[in-house]
Amino acid sequence: MKEISLHILDILQNSITAGASLVELCITEDAEKDIFKFYIKDNGKGMDKEFLKNVTSPFTTKRTTRKVGLGIPLLKLAAESTGGGINISSELGVGTTIEAVFSYSHIDRQPLGNIVDTMFTVITAYENTDFLYIHKSGDREFKFDTREIKKILGGVALSEPDVMAWLLDYLKEGEAGLTAE
Ligand SMILES: Nc1ncnc2c1ncn2[C@@H]1O[C@H](COP(=O)(O)OP(=O)(O)OP(=O)(O)O)[C@@H](O)[C@H]1O
Ligand SMILES: [Mg+2]
Repeated sequence: MKEISLHILDILQNSITAGASLVELCITEDAEKDIFKFYIKDNGKGMDKEFLKNVTSPFTTKRTTRKVGLGIPLLKLAAESTGGGINISSELGVGTTIEAVFSYSHIDRQPLGNIVDTMFTVITAYENTDFLYIHKSGDREFKFDTREIKKILGGVALSEPDVMAWLLDYLKEGEAGLTAE
């Protein structure tokens, strides 16, 4: 994978497959400390201890269509190739948190890529799942919570064309605000 946002999309999809009703993504970019990290926390069905021990192996999957699962192993490889790594904690019936840490300035650290598309895709494709998105860059922060948006929309679907157009703009502007002069 060329972009961290594609790893993120994959890990978010794991959370949705696990039946999560709330998924939190927090990205922290800290050039001064030379750290680029994110965590994804969900309240899905979780994994038991034995499964968790082996989950970074490609041959550990609950997929039924194929016997190899690459989402977590690929993320692990990407993080480790920058001198970082991943950490997973999970509890059956409670949820899962996956954290990935990269060295910010490492030559092999992939760019974040199109995180707006990633968030827009999951938010509009899985309307019954709530997403809390936090992106910190230096001392700036962009935060987006679908629970607040849904309250304001008062029953109007996120998949309404006008709402989708607004959502895309809102995400784009929020992200742009992190780097604007
Ligand atoms: N957030 C999660 N909650 C519960 N189980 C999870 C979670 N993330 C991963 N798993 C379990 O770990 C397995 C491996 O995940 P991984 O993303 O590496 O592969 P996959 O999702 O099976 O396949 P792929 O990502 O290649 O489509 C999953 O099949 C699932 O059983
Ligand atoms: Mg996966």
